[in-house]
Amino acid sequence: EGADHRPRGVGGRGRVVLFPLPFQGHISPMLQLAGALHARGLAVTVLHTSFNAPDPGRHHHPGLNFVAVPDAVPESVAASSNGLAKILGLNAAMAASGRVRDALASLLRAADEPRLACLVLDSTLTAAQKAAAGLGLPTLVLHTGGAACFRLFRSYAMLHDKGYLPATESNLRAPIEELPPLRVSDLFDPSKLPNKEIGQKILDLATETTTNSSAAILNTFEALEPHELETIRDELVPRGIPAFAVGPLHKLATSSSSSSTGGASAGETSLLSADRSCIEWLDTQAPGSVLYVSFGSVVKVTRDELEEIAWGLAGSGRPFLWVVRRGLVAGAGEELVELPEGFEAAVEGRGKVTEWAPQQEVLAHPAVGGFWTHSGWNSTLESVYEGVPMLSRPIFGDQLATGRYVQDAWRIGVLLEGVLERGEVEKAVRKLLMEEDEGAAEIRERAKGLKEKTRMSLESNGSSQQAVDKLVDHILSL
Ligand code: UDX
Repeated sequence: EGADHRPRGVGGRGRVVLFPLPFQGHISPMLQLAGALHARGLAVTVLHTSFNAPDPGRHHHPGLNFVAVPDAVPESVAASSNGLAKILGLNAAMAASGRVRDALASLLRAADEPRLACLVLDSTLTAAQKAAAGLGLPTLVLHTGGAACFRLFRSYAMLHDKGYLPATESNLRAPIEELPPLRVSDLFDPSKLPNKEIGQKILDLATETTTNSSAAILNTFEALEPHELETIRDELVPRGIPAFAVGPLHKLATSSSSSSTGGASAGETSLLSADRSCIEWLDTQAPGSVLYVSFGSVVKVTRDELEEIAWGLAGSGRPFLWVVRRGLVAGAGEELVELPEGFEAAVEGRGKVTEWAPQQEVLAHPAVGGFWTHSGWNSTLESVYEGVPMLSRPIFGDQLATGRYVQDAWRIGVLLEGVLERGEVEKAVRKLLMEEDEGAAEIRERAKGLKEKTRMSLESNGSSQQAVDKLVDHILSL
């Protein structure tokens, strides 16, 4: 009894409890934030569902305390193939079971623990926020997407008022003057979703949770989205909600001197184990020659699109590393994906296919010259951090706006729009990796420049490190 495994000095300042939405793209940034807060001397408890639970063997950093909320996701909800429906089901189950409330109440009661200062939760976990409010526990919201998306998601009333929405065939290419460089086709238009009520409800949840929170935390940095952050603050700060830009979170805890205070990073945050042979294969490739291809953890492509991607990569003549995860092809279940006949023979020695790559290491590898991505926010930040130019093929939600920013705001990549067709893929891949192409060379230069800015924001006096200091002060003042 009484043995304290916390690093010396940690927790004396207070405890925070963190609750991620149980999807890879949301779990990673929350665990990374956990590592950064712990490195600042806070004791950290992470609540998690049994659905997509972190693996104790790989994710449990000794400084972080993990608590399972047993039935937060019922079987029927976990089995649904609609991610948005899962979010709503999760909220309904949390509200009905009272388990989150019980878990929070028990943390508040723990007399020998440092004082529980607040709950940091994913912006969509409104039911958990209500449970905390019922116990008098303040909440902070982590937005796992960029500031541009945060702003966009709060602009739907304006977009309807000004007639941009609902979108029509004829206004799809129209620029949105109020939100440059976005176009109507980049909007996550809830009315275009198969079930538009669900899309609108998720946006409403995120807005409600933010409005009822004591602060917004964003996985972005000042130099990347200065105007977007300014607009967000113009709206939130008068309501008493500060907005902290602490990204990119995947490098926050590891790249500052703050980790010398006894904290450390959250370490491994990937739910799947990665294929290490990718790195050995990259070691055999020429510098800047390889296209890394991955569409994150949730999006799906049709069987036809898979064929076009495969033959486009084959036809490009460039070396590539392609992540074809189980479940990537829509309607084909979680089976290993069968590649087109003759494809492997056609790309032998030049292409490598894997089920799950150690992505951050891949992007850091000198052989990688470009990243074909679905423009998920984590992938985008990881690529920005390494200065790797992108070929963006966004599929849904925040990815659409991010893809537009990659091409037209930061100009560190190109957007692949329209129907996916092998000839177009071939051309786009060749152009992105081409030494002699002037446009591609400029993109590479700008990506390098942004890489420097990213690293500066993470230095000990950089904007993101300062934002975490202020965030911790804010937490302790609650
Ligand atoms: C989801 C949404 O789709 C995305 O738009 C949103 O911004 C966050 O939530 P996901 O689609 O999985 O996320 O994409 P992304 O945000 O890019 O996250 C994927 C993560 O998986 C990255 O951190 C990436 O490094 C990791 N990954 C991906 C691997 O470790 N190995 C792989 O092979 C592929």
